[in-house]
Formats: sequence, C-alpha cells, structure tokens
Amino acid sequence: MSGLGIGYTSAAPPSSIDQVEAAAKKLLSAEPAIMVIGPRVDAKGWARAPISPFFSPCEAFTGRDRAQREIPMSEASQQKLDTFLEKMVCDLGAIATGAGVLLGDKLGLFEALREGGKMTAAELSTRTGTQERLVTEWLSGQAAAGYVDYDEANNNFYLNAEQELVFADENSPAFMAGAFEFLSALWLDEEKVRQAFQSGKGVAWHDHSACLFRGTERFFRPGYNANLIDSWLPALEGVVEKLERGVEVADVGCGHGASTVLMARAFPNSRFVGFDYHAPSIERARKAAEEAGVGANTRFEVAAAKTYPGTYDLVAFFDCLHDMGDPAGAATHVHGSLKPDGTWMIVEPFAHNHLAANLNPVGRVYYAASTFVCTPASLSQEVGLGLGENTNGLLRQYFPKGTDLSRHTARELDAVAHAINTRPRKTLGWKTPAEVLDQLLGGQYDAGVATTG
Ligand SMILES: C[S@@+](CC[C@H](N)C(=O)[O-])C[C@H]1O[C@@H](n2cnc3c(N)ncnc32)[C@H](O)[C@@H]1O
Repeated sequence: MSGLGIGYTSAAPPSSIDQVEAAAKKLLSAEPAIMVIGPRVDAKGWARAPISPFFSPCEAFTGRDRAQREIPMSEASQQKLDTFLEKMVCDLGAIATGAGVLLGDKLGLFEALREGGKMTAAELSTRTGTQERLVTEWLSGQAAAGYVDYDEANNNFYLNAEQELVFADENSPAFMAGAFEFLSALWLDEEKVRQAFQSGKGVAWHDHSACLFRGTERFFRPGYNANLIDSWLPALEGVVEKLERGVEVADVGCGHGASTVLMARAFPNSRFVGFDYHAPSIERARKAAEEAGVGANTRFEVAAAKTYPGTYDLVAFFDCLHDMGDPAGAATHVHGSLKPDGTWMIVEPFAHNHLAANLNPVGRVYYAASTFVCTPASLSQEVGLGLGENTNGLLRQYFPKGTDLSRHTARELDAVAHAINTRPRKTLGWKTPAEVLDQLLGGQYDAGVATTG
C-alpha cells in the first residue's frame, strides 16, 4: 500500500480524533503513508490550519510534508485572514446551531430540560420519546454553542436561567426560539427569492413557507407582551383613556393577531377588528382570539390596507407598513378611516435611515429579513415601493418618536407620502418609483403600439 487518505470532518470533537487516529494506527501498523485529515484544535477551541480552519493534515501521522497549499502572504495579512476565519467559524457555528434550536424547539427538548432540570442525554430522550444517540449529539452541539450548560462531573445537561428565558419560556420577553422559526423561511424560500432577484417581481408574503407566519407571531409576541400595553399605547396622548372608555380599533396587517388579542384582553370595553390580506393568517387569528377568550370584543376579517372597511378611533399597523407595496396609498386610506379625533399608531423595527448606522448585529438580521421577506413582499404588490426595514428611520426623519399623527393635517401627511414616494431608491437603480413606472409604461406603450412603418 503506497498511500491512504482517511478523511473525517469537523463534526468530530478532539477526543474522537484521537480515537480515530489510534484505530487507524492499529489497523495500518506497517509503515504507512497515511494522511488523516481532520481539525486540530488549540486551547481556545479554534481549529488551526493555514488555509481552512476545518481541515489540516495530522503531521505526526504523515511524517511528510504538509499536503496543503500554502498561500504566500505577509504575517500581517495572515493574521487578518486568521481573524476573519475565526469570525467565519463563529458564523457557521451560529447557522449550524440554529437548525438545532429549531429541532429542540419543535421536539420539546428545551421545554423538557426546563421542566426536568439537570439530566443526562438518556433521561432527556426518555422524557421526550426521542432517540438517545441523536439526543446526545444534539445536547453536545447545543452545549458547544453555549445554548445549554454541561455539568462534566455528572455528565448531565441543564438550562441556566438565561437559556431558559430565551429558549423555553414562550411568555418571557427574551424568548427567541420563534426567531429561529422565522429565519428558517429564509433558507426554505431562497429559490423563490433568487428568482425574484432576476424577475424583479418580488415574492408575496403569502407565497412564503408557513414557518414564516408562525415564526413572526412567536418572534414578535414577547415584544408586544412586554411593551404594547405598558409603554407604547401610553405614549399616544389620550389613547389609553379612550380605550378604557370603549372605542373602535382596527389592527391592520395583523397576521396571527397577537397584538389584537393582547389589546382586546387589556381593554374589554373597546371593540377590535384585525385585518390582513392573508386568509390563513386571519383563520389562525380567529382561533387565537377564541383560545384567549376575547371573542366577545374581537373579530378578524380578510382585507387589504387600502380597502378595509369602517371608521376607527385607533388604527394600528404593527411591523407591516414597510411590507406593503403602496404604503402611501395605505396612509391615505388610514387617514380616511380615522374618526375626527382618531390616532394612527405605526410600529416599525428600529432602524436608522442611513446604511452606515445600520451596520451592526441588529442591522445584519434586519437586512437579511428585508432581503428575503419584506422588500420582496412589497415589490410583489401594486406600486412596489420596496421601503425595506428602514421605514422606521425614514418616518422618524419626519415625525419624532411618539408623534400622534392624528394631529397632522391631510396635507402634511400627503407631503410625507410625497417625500417617501419621490425618494430615489437603490433597488430601482437610484430612480424614483414614478420614474421607473414612467419607463415601464413607456416601454409597454411602445411595444403595444401597432405601426405602419
Ligand atoms: C411582518 S408581518 C406582521 C404581522 C403582525 N402585525 C405582527 O406583528 O405579528 C406583516 C403582515 O402584513 C400583512 N400584509 C402585507 N401587505 C399587506 C396589505 N397590503 N394589506 C394588508 N395586510 C398586508 C402580511 O400578510 C403580514 O401578516
């Protein structure tokens, strides 16, 4: 035998590498030319290698030259590359662990850890009716990520107080498992979004995988639980008093109705109607209202933001204005649907109006969601303004935080709508929506006109 390559990948922890090497040595005791490829991990836990942090030859074993391509570079460049690769390992770890969070959330593994306290993999698998070998691997990965804690002396696993709040308590304001469900839609729907990049037609909200709708509800509800009744509504002058007295409220783009149900429970004298153009979301919202026992003062109807019926004392838009193709058209409709002293409440993700100010970990999540969900959703609708997740920044440019829009005249609101509509957009090649529309119509007209020439 002149040479043999044994490959194993980064999934193997260092102890397994030793085991594999020992086994291979035993098997191939005759003078081998063996290269074992696997991660060599230093004290910090970083896999070290000149090119890839995941694959490096085991020198002690090969006794030969490193079979890797060395890239000639200065020490400074090498250090920069190392630092960047360390970041990549962290990011890859986050992505890979994310799938594990989804799994643990759906199989009730986090929940069982919360209920049962410290337990071995065998105990967790018995409790959840799952396969022990796979649970062992899942627990090890989550422990490596710092998402569960490991008690080495007793070989058992547990959730510390913070992990419990983030992964196992749906009602905690820090609950994040829903975000993983939301983000799984980015991967599942990548092909549709890729096509939208080429066609320019966008991807409608309703054309996404169902995990997006449920994930949105579970991701946002903790924030609404923590803020809506106690801080957001009181920020609007006189609104809480009206709600307590009993008024008409519309929650537009309500999705699964988390915000509607919350308000309906807090203000039993008022009447709430949730509107969304997505029929399956409205169906789910109706069930949620029933489960929460707020059926008496709550109803849900399928309707779009530009056409919903009725007049209201309070109209609320929770994280949906920027998803709409024609937010200015929606604003005009809202204005017409408000009673004389009515209030329009807009809740949008906190983002800045300048790219540089958004280049941070939160901006990173927003831009990902905006690329795959919000902007394609807007582009799929009429007008297709594609505001993206920075709508908040844009609005705050005109209206300071907590502004009660009912105090502004229709003319002022029209001026803002005009400013938003006439703003050149990067997604439109730095043209305004009107310019693009003109171009499109011009093109269609030319193509559709019969000529005698
Ligand atoms: C990000 S979700 C927010 C859902 C809900 N407000 C929440 O906070 O959980 C955006 C919602 O806007 C709805 N939507 C998008 N465009 C709409 C339109 N033109 N009219 C009515 N609803 C719309 C979608 O169906 C979706 O439910």
